[in-house]
Amino acid sequence: MAPVFFLLPLLLGQILLCAAGDTINSSTPLSGAQKIVSKGNKFTLGFYTPPQGTNTSSNQGNYYIAIWYSNIPLQTTVWMANPDLPVADPTTAALTIGSDGNLVLLDQSKNRQVLWSTNISTSSNSTIAVLQDGGSLDLRDATNSSMVYWRSIDHPTNTWLPGGKLGLNKTTGVSQRLVPWTNTANPSPGLFSLELDPRGTTQYLIQWNDSITYWSSGPWNNNIFSLVPEMTSGYNYDFQFINNATESYFIYSMKDNSIISRFIIDVDGQIKQLTWVPASQSWILFWSQPRTQCEVYALCGAYGSCNLNALPFCNCIRGFSQKVQSDWDLQDYSSGCKRRVPLQCQTNSSSSQAQPDKFYTMANVRLPDNAQTAVAASSQDCQVACLNNCSCNAYTYNSSGCFVWHGDLINLQDQYSGNGGGTLFLRLAASELPGSKRSKAVIIGAVVGGVAAVLIVLSIVAYFLFQKYRRERTLRIPKTAGGTLIAFRYSDLQHVTNNFSERLGGGAFGSVFKGKLPDSTAIAVKRLDGVHQGEKQFRAEVSTIGTVQHVNLVRLLGFCSEGSRRLLVYEFMPKGSLDLQLFLGETTALSWATRYQIALGTARGLNYLHEKCRDCIIHCDVKPENILLDESFVPKVADFGLAKLLGRDFSRVLTTMRGTRGYLAPEWISGVAITAKADVFSYGMMLFELISGRRNSDHGEQHGSTFFPTFAASKLHEGDVRTLLDPKLNGDANADELTRACKVACWCIQDDESARPTTGQIVQILEGFLDVNMPPVPRSLRVLGESPDVINFFSDISSNQTSQTQNSTTSQTRSTTSGSSHLQSP
Ligand SMILES: *[C@@H]1O[C@H](CO)[C@@H](O)[C@H](O)[C@H]1NC(C)=O
Ligand SMILES: *[C@@H]1O[C@H](CO)[C@@H](O)[C@H](O)[C@H]1NC(C)=O
Ligand SMILES: *[C@@H]1O[C@H](CO)[C@@H](O)[C@H](O)[C@H]1NC(C)=O
Ligand SMILES: *[C@@H]1O[C@H](CO)[C@@H](O)[C@H](O)[C@H]1NC(C)=O
Ligand SMILES: *[C@@H]1O[C@H](CO)[C@@H](O)[C@H](O)[C@H]1NC(C)=O
Ligand SMILES: *[C@@H]1O[C@H](CO)[C@@H](O)[C@H](O)[C@H]1NC(C)=O
Ligand SMILES: *[C@@H]1O[C@H](CO)[C@@H](O)[C@H](O)[C@H]1NC(C)=O
Ligand SMILES: *[C@@H]1O[C@H](CO)[C@@H](O)[C@H](O)[C@H]1NC(C)=O
Ligand SMILES: *[C@@H]1O[C@H](CO)[C@@H](O)[C@H](O)[C@H]1NC(C)=O
Ligand SMILES: *[C@@H]1O[C@H](CO)[C@@H](O)[C@H](O)[C@H]1NC(C)=O
Ligand SMILES: *[C@@H]1O[C@H](CO)[C@@H](O)[C@H](O)[C@H]1NC(C)=O
Repeated sequence: MAPVFFLLPLLLGQILLCAAGDTINSSTPLSGAQKIVSKGNKFTLGFYTPPQGTNTSSNQGNYYIAIWYSNIPLQTTVWMANPDLPVADPTTAALTIGSDGNLVLLDQSKNRQVLWSTNISTSSNSTIAVLQDGGSLDLRDATNSSMVYWRSIDHPTNTWLPGGKLGLNKTTGVSQRLVPWTNTANPSPGLFSLELDPRGTTQYLIQWNDSITYWSSGPWNNNIFSLVPEMTSGYNYDFQFINNATESYFIYSMKDNSIISRFIIDVDGQIKQLTWVPASQSWILFWSQPRTQCEVYALCGAYGSCNLNALPFCNCIRGFSQKVQSDWDLQDYSSGCKRRVPLQCQTNSSSSQAQPDKFYTMANVRLPDNAQTAVAASSQDCQVACLNNCSCNAYTYNSSGCFVWHGDLINLQDQYSGNGGGTLFLRLAASELPGSKRSKAVIIGAVVGGVAAVLIVLSIVAYFLFQKYRRERTLRIPKTAGGTLIAFRYSDLQHVTNNFSERLGGGAFGSVFKGKLPDSTAIAVKRLDGVHQGEKQFRAEVSTIGTVQHVNLVRLLGFCSEGSRRLLVYEFMPKGSLDLQLFLGETTALSWATRYQIALGTARGLNYLHEKCRDCIIHCDVKPENILLDESFVPKVADFGLAKLLGRDFSRVLTTMRGTRGYLAPEWISGVAITAKADVFSYGMMLFELISGRRNSDHGEQHGSTFFPTFAASKLHEGDVRTLLDPKLNGDANADELTRACKVACWCIQDDESARPTTGQIVQILEGFLDVNMPPVPRSLRVLGESPDVINFFSDISSNQTSQTQNSTTSQTRSTTSGSSHLQSP
C-alpha cells in the first residue's frame, strides 16, 4: 500500500498543473507536452515547434519555450525564451525555478545544462513564474505579487505586445529590440532589427545586420514621430512615448481589449501591425513600414534583385541562381545568388578559344551599394577599367563619372526610377550572353551554312503552315459582341498575350497582362492566384460579374477556367491606373476638372455597385490602384466582385496587401460586419489623395508632419482649403468644387459608419444637387480633445438653404428622394 500513497500527491499535482495552472514554481516544472494557461485563458505557454517548411529535414525536433494566443486556431507565438538554442526532445527538458530564484530552461539529456535563464540577481529564492493575460510571463516573489523581478514582455523577441515597453534603460544602456525570425520555419534571430536609436535620439530605427539603417521613424515631436504622420490616427490604439533621465520608451494599449492586435518585425524586414479578424479567421495587415518591400536593405541578398512588380519580390539577376534554394523557399533570401558560369578571368584559361567576359545591360535599376570610383574618360574606358581587374563585377558610367563594383552586388532593385538609379553593366561569362558563339573553324562554318539553308527552306514552309493555322485558330475566338461573356481557352489567351509577355501590373490577386484579340481589340488578362473554387461556382460568380455593366466600371469581356487555371479578360484601359497618373506623373499633372470628373465618375461606379445591381456588391478594396482611366480619363472601377469570387481568400489578399494602411475602414479590424460604408471610407481617403496629389501618409515634413486627412479636416474648419490643393496645380481649381470635395472626403472618413454618406449622396453632392454641411474632425483623427458635436452631413438645398452650420440636428438619414427641387443650383 505504501507506494500507492506515495504516488498519489504527485499524480494530483500533475493533474492540477495541467488543468488550471498559470504558474511554475520550484516543485512544478514544465516539461514535455505540459502547458500553463493565463487566468483568463488568453495566452498559453509550453514547448512549441514551428510549422515545417517545405524541407522538413532541417527542422525536425526543434522545440522552443514559447507563449502563444490560446484562442487563435492559427498557432501564433508572441514570445520565445530560447530562439537560438532549441531542445531536441521536450520530455528531457524542463522549465523550472532554479536554486538561485531564476527561471531556467534545463536540458536533462545534456547534464542538466542551462540553455536559458532569466539571469537576474535576486535576494529571494522563493520565486514563481506566472503567465499573465496580457501575454507576459512574470517572475515574481511567491508571497508578494507586487515584487516583480522580470517580465518577458520587457524582453521581446519578434513581437511587441500592448503594454510592453520598447525602449532604452538609460542607466544600463540596455534596450528592447525586435528581431525577426531567420525564416518562416526558423525562429533564430534574423538579420533585421527594430530599436530605439542607441545614440539617444528619440527615433526608432530598423537596421540590417546592426550596421545599415534603412528606415527611421523620425524624432518624437511630443505628438507623433515626424516621419510616421499617420500614427495619430490610431483608431484602436493609445500611444505614449516616455522620455526622461532614466529611461525612454514607447508603449501602446488597445482601446478595446477584445481586439487582438500585435506588432511584429517580419522575416521580410518590415514592421507590421496585424489584427486578428475572427470573421475571416486570419490576421489582417493594418499598417506596415517601410512602405514598400524593396526599401528593406539587401532583402534579396548578394546578386539578388528586388522588384515591386513581382511575387516573390526577390529574384536572381541574369547569370546567377539561388545559392540555397531551401532558404528561398522559406522567404529567406539573405543567402543570395551565385554565378552560374565562372568568368573567363577566373578560369585561368588563356587559350585563344576562350572569349573575354562580356557585359549585360541592366537599365533602370537601383545601383548596388559600395560603388568605387574609377578614372575613365568614357563609357568605353570605364568598361576596360572593369575588365582589367578580375574582382570587378559591374560598372556604370553616368554624369558623375565611372563607377565600378568589386565584390558582391547588394541592394539591387529592378524597374526603379528613384534616387540612385541608373544603368548597370553586369560582367558575365561570354556564354551567358546571346550572339557570342563565334565559329571555330571553316568546317563548322560550312556545316552551319548547310544546316542554315535547310532551315530557311523549312521555316518558309513552317511560316505558311503557321499562317494557315493562325487563321484557323483565330476563328475560334468569337467576337466580343453583345453582353455575353466569352469562355476563352487557355492556349488562346497564351497566344493573344504573346505568352503573357507584357505585364501591366499585379497585386495580391495575381498579375495582369496586355493582349490583343484578332480584331485588334486590346485586352487586359488577369491571371488569378489562389482561387480554389470549383469550376461551376467560378462560372456562376463570373457570369454575375459579367452582367454588371456601367460606364464607370471596367467591363469584363470573358474568362478562362481550365483545370486549376482561372483567368479574367477585361477591356484594356490605355491610361492605366489612377495611382500612376496621380503619384508618378511628373510632368503632366491631372487638371482639377479631370480630377473632379474622376471623383464623380468613381462615385457613380461605386453607387452602381452598391445600389443599382441586383445584389449589392461591396468592392472592399477601393484605392487609386483599382481606378483605371480610359483614353479620355473617364474613370472605371476595377476588380469589383473579386471579394466574393475569392471568398475566404480575400482576407488573405488583404493580409498580403502592400503598403501602408490608409484605405481600410476601422470596422475592418473591429470585426463587425462590413457594409457598403466601408467602401465609402476608402473612397474618402482616395478623394483626399486626388485633392493633394500625394499619398495621405506621404506628406513627410509638410503640413507639420500631420496625417493629411487630419490636416485637411482642420484646414477645412479654418476655411483654408487652397492649402490642401496639389501644388502642381498652382492653385488652379474651382473653389466651390474644391470645398465640396474636401467636405465630402471628410464626411466619408468618419469613424461612425452611419455618419458617412452613401455613394448616392456623394454623387448628388458632387453634382451640386445637394449641399453639404461642415464635417466634424473624425473622432480618431482628433489630436486635441475636441468634443464631438456634428452628425448631420448634408442639407437638402431646396428645403433648407440655411442649415449649413455646424449645429444642425441629427436627422441625417433623411432620404434624398428625387424631385425637381434638387435640380436647383445652390
Ligand atoms: C507549487 O504549486 C503547486 C500547485 O499550484 C502547489 O501545490 C505547491 O505547493 C507549490 N509549491 C511551492 C513550493 O510553492
Ligand atoms: C532538405 O535539405 C537538405 C539540406 O539542407 C537536403 O539534403 C535534402 O535533400 C532536402 N530534402 C528535401 C526533401 O528537399
Ligand atoms: C532558499 O534559501 C534558503 C537559505 O538561503 C535555503 O535553506 C532553501 O533551501 C532555499 N530554497 C530553495 C527553494 O532553494
Ligand atoms: C547574466 O548577467 C550577467 C550580468 O548580470 C552577464 O555578465 C551574463 O553574461 C549574463 N548571462 C547570460 C546567459 O545572459
Ligand atoms: C510587497 O512588496 C512591496 C514592494 O516591495 C512592499 O511595498 C510591500 O510592503 C510588500 N508587501 C508585503 C505583504 O510584504
Ligand atoms: C534599468 O535597469 C536597472 C538594472 O536592471 C534597473 O535597476 C532599473 O530599474 C532600470 N531602470 C528603469 C527605469 O527601468
Ligand atoms: C554582418 O556583419 C558582420 C560583422 O559585423 C559580418 O561578419 C557579417 O558577414 C555580416 N553579415 C552579412 C550577411 O553580411
Ligand atoms: C521616468 O518615467 C517613468 C515612467 O513614467 C517614471 O516611473 C520615472 O519615475 C521617471 N523618472 C524620472 C527620473 O523622472
Ligand atoms: C588559377 O591559377 C592559380 C595559380 O596559377 C591557381 O592557384 C588557381 O587555383 C587557378 N584557378 C582555377 C580556377 O583554375
Ligand atoms: C582589383 O581591385 C581590388 C579592389 O579595388 C584591388 O584590391 C586589387 O588590387 C585590384 N587588382 C588588380 C590586379 O588591380
Ligand atoms: C552615378 O552612379 C554612382 C554609383 O552608384 C552614384 O553614386 C551617383 O550618384 C550617380 N550619379 C548620378 C548623377 O546619377
